[in-house]
Amino acid sequence: EMMKDVLGLTLLENKLMERFNLTKVIVVSGDSDQSPWVKKEMGRACVTCIKERLNGKNIVAVTGGTTLAAVAEMMTPDSKNRDILFVPARGGLGETVENQANTICAKMAERASGNYRLLHVPDQLSKDAYQSIIAEPHIKELLEMMRSPSMVVHGIGDAKTMAERRRTSEQDFNKIEKGNAVGEAFGYYFDQEGKIIHKVQTVGIQIDDIAEMSNVMAVAGGASKAKAIKAYLKQSLDSVLITDEGAANELIRD
Ligand code: F6P
Repeated sequence: EMMKDVLGLTLLENKLMERFNLTKVIVVSGDSDQSPWVKKEMGRACVTCIKERLNGKNIVAVTGGTTLAAVAEMMTPDSKNRDILFVPARGGLGETVENQANTICAKMAERASGNYRLLHVPDQLSKDAYQSIIAEPHIKELLEMMRSPSMVVHGIGDAKTMAERRRTSEQDFNKIEKGNAVGEAFGYYFDQEGKIIHKVQTVGIQIDDIAEMSNVMAVAGGASKAKAIKAYLKQSLDSVLITDEGAANELIRD
């Protein structure tokens, strides 16, 4: 029974790699829409992936969301004691405190026995105030690290769910809806062709920065996120996809 299960997951991983031209896919069993522990399993798989990619000095940029919170929960210290600095990937994206990139970043560092830097730049600032804050040397240095980390670990969400979860203005909400956005990742909303429909104005990593990177890990599962994951994959970023059976089965369906 167990062996059959493992083979089934490997088959799904191979199908996804082929279909979406990915170099690494991990599928954990179950559907996180149905069972909350599946998110933790994705978290566990992600932690393993992070550790496989650690080098001498590491800057790991992380986004927010409940899936990334599960990654943080599963984090453990690096047995080789390598240097890890966790930073948020982008500024405030309107999540509640426990699901904010800053919080997750601190939690991951604590569990990994690593270090972290937090971003304290409010999003609603006048242009002048904003310019002077980002010119502060320690903030400038952090922003530079956020834009060129050695690894990015991020979630993917359903566009409408995310627009509702954040305090999205009516104007932006209409833009997201009119543009038929289906997926969201690091503040970018994509339609099913992968076209960027809307981008949340905030500091930190931009999609063009991510396109240049080789250690990008996307963690997202649940059948309800299949469309969102598909839209994100249209970006053809060289990402590792960590997902679950629920999403994987939908993704290989035509
Ligand atoms: O808001 C941060 C974020 O990573 C989004 O970019 C993403 O769409 C969302 O969280 C995923 O959240 P969850 O893991 O809770 O579905």
